Amino acid sequence: MYYKKLLFAVMALTFGAISAQQRIPEVEALLQKMTLEEKIGQLNLLTPGGGVATGEVVSKNVEAKIKAGEVGGLFGVAGPDKVRVAQELAVKKSRLGIPLLIGSDVIHGYKTTYPIPLGLASSWDMDLVQQAAQMAAKEATADGINWNFSPMVDIARDPRWGRIAEGAGEDPYLGSRIAEASIKGYQGDDLAAAHTMLACVKHFALYGAAEAGRDYHSVDMSKIKMFNQYLPPYKAAVDAGVASVMSSFNDVDGIPATGNKWLLTDLLRDKWGFNGFVVSDYTSLNEMIPHGLGDLQAVSALALNAGLDMDMVGEGFLTTLKKSLEEGKVTEEAITNACRRILEAKYISGLFEDPYRYLDSKRPAKDILTKENRALARTLAAHSFVLLKNENNILPLQKNKKIALVGPLADSRNNMLGTWAPTGDVSLAVTILEGFKNVAPNATIQYAKGANISDDEEFAKHVNVFGPRIEIDERSPEVMVDEAVELAKNADVVVAVVGEATEMTGEAASRTDISIPESQKILIRALVATGKPVALVLMSGRPLTIPDELGLPVAILQVWHPGVEAGNAIADVVFGDYNPSGKLTVTWPRNVGQIPIYYSAKNTGRPAPENDEFQKFRSNYLDSPNSPLLPFGYGLSYTNFEYSNLKLDKASIGQGESISATVTVTNTGNYDGEEVVQLYLRDVVRSITPPKRELKGFRKILLKKGESKEVTITLSPDDLKFYNSQLDFVAEPGEFVVFVGTNSDAQLSKSFVLN
Ligand code: BGC
Repeated sequence: MYYKKLLFAVMALTFGAISAQQRIPEVEALLQKMTLEEKIGQLNLLTPGGGVATGEVVSKNVEAKIKAGEVGGLFGVAGPDKVRVAQELAVKKSRLGIPLLIGSDVIHGYKTTYPIPLGLASSWDMDLVQQAAQMAAKEATADGINWNFSPMVDIARDPRWGRIAEGAGEDPYLGSRIAEASIKGYQGDDLAAAHTMLACVKHFALYGAAEAGRDYHSVDMSKIKMFNQYLPPYKAAVDAGVASVMSSFNDVDGIPATGNKWLLTDLLRDKWGFNGFVVSDYTSLNEMIPHGLGDLQAVSALALNAGLDMDMVGEGFLTTLKKSLEEGKVTEEAITNACRRILEAKYISGLFEDPYRYLDSKRPAKDILTKENRALARTLAAHSFVLLKNENNILPLQKNKKIALVGPLADSRNNMLGTWAPTGDVSLAVTILEGFKNVAPNATIQYAKGANISDDEEFAKHVNVFGPRIEIDERSPEVMVDEAVELAKNADVVVAVVGEATEMTGEAASRTDISIPESQKILIRALVATGKPVALVLMSGRPLTIPDELGLPVAILQVWHPGVEAGNAIADVVFGDYNPSGKLTVTWPRNVGQIPIYYSAKNTGRPAPENDEFQKFRSNYLDSPNSPLLPFGYGLSYTNFEYSNLKLDKASIGQGESISATVTVTNTGNYDGEEVVQLYLRDVVRSITPPKRELKGFRKILLKKGESKEVTITLSPDDLKFYNSQLDFVAEPGEFVVFVGTNSDAQLSKSFVLN
């Protein structure tokens, strides 16, 4: 037993590196016994919707197909008892008894929902990111899940795209660190352990670069941009040993990712050495038909030959591969290879040793939604908030004041979890009203809705597909605003919870206007006009264009969609029990016309003046500055941090050498606080145009009030490298400038030379 465990642990650690020479004998023996149909069956991933025992919603005849050996995995079925029904069908009723993979979208927590990924990323705290994923894995596996369709690591530089909420933001360096931490959290170091699950990095590749921010839209990008800006987080995931990869809906260089051999084989397997399995996105194989690549048989053969192993829901593989084999359009070897990769994943998960490994009926009560998990969700949420503005130090509030708590999101349980929380339970979410009462029982809190999230009924219909998110009140907008203003006038301070409903971001939730809806803007202006101090708690799944609100004399705390502990965590920060420490991981534009806008843009041959002044025949706009509303890496604290005395340990280095930057950071304010010290690098001269600066290191530190610390960040030889015109990863000799500071506008700088 011990030996087996050890073997699994070693296998899990080296999963990314199973080579032809290291084949798993059990898998090879099984392959020998399998018919062609059974091999093709393993490539089929279905979703039974209502559960195999009670009927089918999406995939048809699931039970019969499992018995016939025509299913490799299921998703959308959960709970040890329900999963057992399916697993027993596979193990006891199919000829070879091969267990099923059981997948799920555990995107930001299983039942204990924590902040949306864009929020969690804003913590810049890799320990917390890992702990979050660990908790999600423990809960999901307790419910019978052994495979997670996460992390999504798509770089996104267009906040119109609704799925920006699901990723880590715009930066390849930070995105890579978050990919690694998530995979460590989900997979642990023993994939066969009962509390770890296979991760699936998605959506490979470039899904976040959809044209015009419209979901599922085309992507067309140079290889230079791909390799330097968009591919690093996927590669980091592969290097971290991710067990599976999901192909994306979009095309890459004119070929949809799901049928793109350059992407799925030449790059992923041959160049990066990935040896896990590749699954399509939901019917993305079939979608190659409307993409314009042929009929179902043609696109299925294309996908298999490209290196796709598993077909999600579309059943193109199941229904056409045999014919394609007979017609010589695919080989049996290709089918066997795909099948092998799926069987290897099952083996490494420990499913062959014990198909019921994740099906302990006692675990859900023990492991899901525990006190500890909810406490962690509360911590994660508080760490994800970003203080955007704090006029007159309105925040934190004292706990004994008279507070007018207003806004359409202040008491809106349905909007706390955020997008892509299908396993969460909205009824368990803590509203802000409840959180305030929990944390500040001696405050006088009066609530008014004040406005609808939007007054637009048609828009509300589009948003409300998964249930009521935008609920349009029977009262007129004027009556609602008046009621809120009355409360405000009689209060010491106003807290207005405003922004986006959860489904205003997420899949197929792109917007062309990313401002706060007009109904809420009117409310905000009316509240400020009372002259009372106003704190805005801003909820959204994306950067919003808020130049008007940022210009008001208010405090603004950006809270994303915080998850099941929303209200408690917001109260913790608003009342000063936790000093906000989050930093934006994506640039906030002034207006949609600036998009795409990101800090690592290139200088151009005609850079605009640094001071944002318009100059004719320079790269700028007639009607807007170039600078963003809020830069990448930005976030305030209740205290202040000062940076001084930046030093490099060397003036010049040779190829292959490291260099360290040290800076003194001092907490000069009145609160203890955490700061994210950020290091950016400019490669002054290159054989291809360099970005103005790029994040290459960061450290999150705690400083007591009045305390100073020296912080050292070391640049490794790889941190100086980039992909050149030949796509070689090189560092070129010459001058480099290091910038260190509190956000991507960091001004302290020192130069060194690479010889
Ligand atoms: C999404 C994926 C998800 C899959 C399965 C698709 O629509 O793009 O991110 O994993 O559905 O639910």
